[in-house]
Amino acid sequence: MIKAVRGTRDLLPPDTALWNFVEATARDVFRAYNFQEIRTPIFEETQLFARSVGEETDIVSKEMYTWEDRGGTQSEKFSEFLDVVARAQQDPAYKATLDNTELYNKYLAQGRLRGQSLTLRPENTAGVVRAYIEHKLWDRGLNKLFYIGPQFRRERPQKGRYRQFYQIGAEAIGPPTSGSESPARDAEILEMLATFLDRLGITGWTLELNSVGCPADRARFNEALKKALEPVVSQMCDDCQRRAVTNPLRVFDCKVPEDQPIIDGLPRISQFLDEGCRKHFDEVKEILKAVGVEFRENDRLVRGLDYYTRTAFEFTHGALGAQNAILGGGRYDGLSESLGGPQAPGIGFAIGEDRLVMSVGKSAEEVSCKPDVYIAPLGEGMNREAARLARELRRHDLVVELGDESFRLKKSFDTADKLGARFALIVGENEVKAGAFSLKNLVTGEQVSVPRADLAQAIQVRK
Ligand code: HAM
Repeated sequence: MIKAVRGTRDLLPPDTALWNFVEATARDVFRAYNFQEIRTPIFEETQLFARSVGEETDIVSKEMYTWEDRGGTQSEKFSEFLDVVARAQQDPAYKATLDNTELYNKYLAQGRLRGQSLTLRPENTAGVVRAYIEHKLWDRGLNKLFYIGPQFRRERPQKGRYRQFYQIGAEAIGPPTSGSESPARDAEILEMLATFLDRLGITGWTLELNSVGCPADRARFNEALKKALEPVVSQMCDDCQRRAVTNPLRVFDCKVPEDQPIIDGLPRISQFLDEGCRKHFDEVKEILKAVGVEFRENDRLVRGLDYYTRTAFEFTHGALGAQNAILGGGRYDGLSESLGGPQAPGIGFAIGEDRLVMSVGKSAEEVSCKPDVYIAPLGEGMNREAARLARELRRHDLVVELGDESFRLKKSFDTADKLGARFALIVGENEVKAGAFSLKNLVTGEQVSVPRADLAQAIQVRK
């Protein structure tokens, strides 16, 4: 039997009702803050993630689904050529004999020796910023964009951690003149998140807040970190030993328990913030206090992606266990420039929808839509009449389920009960002739005869 791939899963009804409830609430709340939807491709050029998320991050160095894409339709000649290249790559002697052949040089010149490297998106911020640059979205001033969709990371699957998971995210990005750099944007986003979680009925979340400063602060912090790591790094895990040289900040991503006491003793970015970053951070906190959103400062929080500047945050939830971050985000003021775009400060977040659904206190049953009425056709030829009635009632926005004329009445009632329908409507030859139908309230047991023209209203009134 072929099963879903490890780390992926099917979302089935009734659980999907909970997912729809969460997504519909997100759309409602985001609309009130004037965010609009963006949909970017599920795969992008690998370079996009390497240059934005960062080569040294766990995401880029270990977790991406990357492949070489040969692109276009391959001519027979090109396939032949690829075989030759594959052999040449394994056998230098064979390659030497080819180096001057016309075909080899032709494709080499065209840069088609290797296919294009593509990657399933591990996150969506890079794609949004790429789209911002590609479509010159700065002409629109401040862009407030949200997205809902799957992301892919090859992580070790466990509760709350999947290889295909879903994010609900948003980004506010634009030229500095649009106010994109203002601490008011940060506070607005954080307040929107608090509102969203409240609207879902999620309690017991904590907003953890930090500032990771600007590149100049980080350069000084990195120097200090390198110095502090020098005498202790040999006692740390292999990853940390590498990070200490290539990107010391990433040491804070380490999850190895033995390394934690060492990490706790390292300098913190908060000690290196310049005047501008400190002021920015203070203003974010002041606005949050003014609007009544509680937060906890956590100066160890650096987030696992390289593009962050200034405000960085996570919302955690106690009920989630080890994977307790419901969402994460922050500012990325230099990201557009690092991808070849103009100056475009931005801030955003992504919620792990899988984890969010786990923290919603409601059951799928509570938010599912049950049929208003179950139509029970009784006897031969009645499927046609039932279909006509169902069509009429559905036009009145009622949720209608249809039985079958081969069912006995008891089977129809049992099915209607199981589905949680509120009414059963009996459609037999006599009813059709009389133009009035028996409508049974499945909660109270009451049964009344209702003329065809009044049916929709009778069901709606008794809702
Ligand atoms: P992130 O912290 O890598 O940030 O991911 C955001 C959230 O996605 C996490 O807090 C978690 O809830 C969820 N998540 C991550 N990996 C998994 C997984 N394997 N299984 C289930 N859920 C997962 C970002 O992705 C940034 N793009 C957020 C952002 C937007 N920053 C600025 N704008």
